[in-house]
Amino acid sequence: GAPTVVLGIETSCDDTAAAIIDSHGRILSEVARGQAASHEPKGGIVPVLAVAKHVENMPYVVKEALDQSGLTMADIDAVAVTRGPGISACLSVGFNAAKTLAAVHNKPLIGAHHMEAHALTARLCFPDQIEFPFLSLLISGGHTLLLAVHGVGQYTQLGTTRDDSIGDAFDKVARALQLPWKSGPGGGAGAALEQAAQRGELYESPVAISEESPRSRPSLKIPLRVPMSVNHQVASLDFSFSGLKADVFRRIEAELASHYGQFVFDMAAAFQYTATRHLLQKVKLGLRYCQTELGMAQPRALVCSGGVASNTYIRGQLQDWAAAEKGGGGIPLFCPPPRLCTDNGVMVAWAGYERLRANMVDSYDIGVMPKWPL
Ligand code: KG4
Ligand code: ZN
Repeated sequence: GAPTVVLGIETSCDDTAAAIIDSHGRILSEVARGQAASHEPKGGIVPVLAVAKHVENMPYVVKEALDQSGLTMADIDAVAVTRGPGISACLSVGFNAAKTLAAVHNKPLIGAHHMEAHALTARLCFPDQIEFPFLSLLISGGHTLLLAVHGVGQYTQLGTTRDDSIGDAFDKVARALQLPWKSGPGGGAGAALEQAAQRGELYESPVAISEESPRSRPSLKIPLRVPMSVNHQVASLDFSFSGLKADVFRRIEAELASHYGQFVFDMAAAFQYTATRHLLQKVKLGLRYCQTELGMAQPRALVCSGGVASNTYIRGQLQDWAAAEKGGGGIPLFCPPPRLCTDNGVMVAWAGYERLRANMVDSYDIGVMPKWPL
């Protein structure tokens, strides 16, 4: 029969986004208005400002999504919207728009979970390749989560951050290094840090490979301790970034004034390297935990998404590990393209479709859930 068409709306944080997808995973339209430029002078997201921007942008974003697709509300089969978690007042803007649209046009309304949407998007990007159960690493400004995804609405949270999110750590380190925010959707300070890291040198100039030490590897230029790697072999699956961040701050304070220039790039590279080692250690532990402790079927895939997953270094490192792991009966890695890793309307529309298919439809009088647990 005709494919199911879903309109998705996302306003949980600082992007006003709407998109239309169908049940074949086709993206019929995709619109986003970011606010990075408005928040940049404040060095972080200012909720009142964000709400005002959402209010201003909401009607145009939805209208553009319809216009781009060549569809009208009559062609839409369901309206999906981010219900949480997120900034309450921001969520409300998209939520009220979606509820009103759905009610007026007599369409089913689906409140989508923001993190579920990040995790499920990969199933739109790679149709029929990601079966349940799969392992999901969600790395964003709001969350740092390792999940076992058993099905739509069925998750086991394996680990979360004990302090800062990884995205926040990237943002704060970027700011301490005085890197500019990169404006536009998918930007944030994290992207600026990645760019700086590309110009950094991770290792001391390589030692000459000699007969005596054919394998000697060059040592790190700025060695930082991988979080929770010393006294935590007790296999906690949680993350921690505040110690690493503090360590980086201390070194910056000591060196930045005298060494501005290459030091900034090297520090960015060292931080990114260490944060990535931390992620990898937890993913490895998590995979083993699923197989041995959780008594679940072997995860079929590792999905990495969320804003920080648009980082090409992190993706590359995960890919290298997953490929090696594959040799031992391991796990294929799937990362949505960067524009679908950061907050967007497509992920909400798709999560809405997956919920619709599972008969998880909501009534028009539901409210937002700013702290919605998974
Ligand atoms: O998923 P997202 O757009 O919003 C949240 O739900 O939080 O993630 C935003 C976060 C920000 O902290 C931003 O700095 C970070 O993702 N980010 C990156 C990169 N691009 C965005 N972090 C590291 N490397 C990147 N290339
Ligand atoms: Zn997000």
